[in-house]
Amino acid sequence: MSNQTEQGYFTEENSAEVVVSRNANASDARLAELMEAITRHLHAAVKEVEPTQEEWFKAIMFLTETGHKCDDWRQEFILLSDVLGVSMLVDAINNRKPSGASESTVLGPFHVPDAPERPMGADICLDGKGDRMLVKGRILDTDGNPIAGARIDVWQTNDDGFYDVQQKGIQPDFNFRGVFRTGADGVYWFWGAKPKSYPIPDDGPVGKMLAALGRHPYRPAHLHYIIEAEGFETLVTHIFDPRDEYIHSDAVFGVKQSLMAEFELVEDKARIEAKGAQAPFFEVKHDFVLAGTS
Ligand code: BEZ
Ligand code: FE
Repeated sequence: MSNQTEQGYFTEENSAEVVVSRNANASDARLAELMEAITRHLHAAVKEVEPTQEEWFKAIMFLTETGHKCDDWRQEFILLSDVLGVSMLVDAINNRKPSGASESTVLGPFHVPDAPERPMGADICLDGKGDRMLVKGRILDTDGNPIAGARIDVWQTNDDGFYDVQQKGIQPDFNFRGVFRTGADGVYWFWGAKPKSYPIPDDGPVGKMLAALGRHPYRPAHLHYIIEAEGFETLVTHIFDPRDEYIHSDAVFGVKQSLMAEFELVEDKARIEAKGAQAPFFEVKHDFVLAGTS
């Protein structure tokens, strides 16, 4: 049977056009658009690199191993997207913020949806390890007004550089996680311990790829936030320690200048006592500005 959409027989020169024209009857226009772009760029890359059969098979086996590494707890394809910078690019495209609003960054795989709501000022460090840290700030709109009733979901690594879900049975459940809700002043504060830089899971094909490319798997120390409030766009972001050794080489490209926070070491006795602390601690002040929906 003849096919009206066929561009002739497949040749090295017209390879992409022939494949794209074969999809002309796709019922989903967005899928057809996506597959056209992927086909064109993939064929262009193959024409540029001219892989040998062995090299192409190696690429196929890399993707095969990436799939085999995935299960309910491990998503190696997301890690691949992360280290290729694609997760951050999709995040940037989908979170273009108005001027003055806080910037977003990657969610990462370690968020849990059912972290406990805690009273403002609570300590999210349940294992007693690490350098004490007080985190505080305000949730504001782009005019600088406080946002009441904002829901702040925060999570971070413990002093060993692991999330609780990576060490079930070793760390207490919900260690370094909490949900806080702002009052009329938009203020939030909680106690924790200074987070540590840590490697993204690197015992799979993505880790092998990073090593082969001379790249390390580390993320600079950070705290994760999801901030939600009625009438505002949800903000998924982090704050980073600018003094971290990996701040300029985050394995997943999540760092932005505006997300740097100052981790001030408080050693002054009066300030230590004023906070009811027993010893020096780090104080981190950071305001978040939410963009309105509309
Ligand atoms: C994280 O920050 O939790 C994370 C982000 C991307 C990949 C792995 C971990
Ligand atoms: Fe993280």
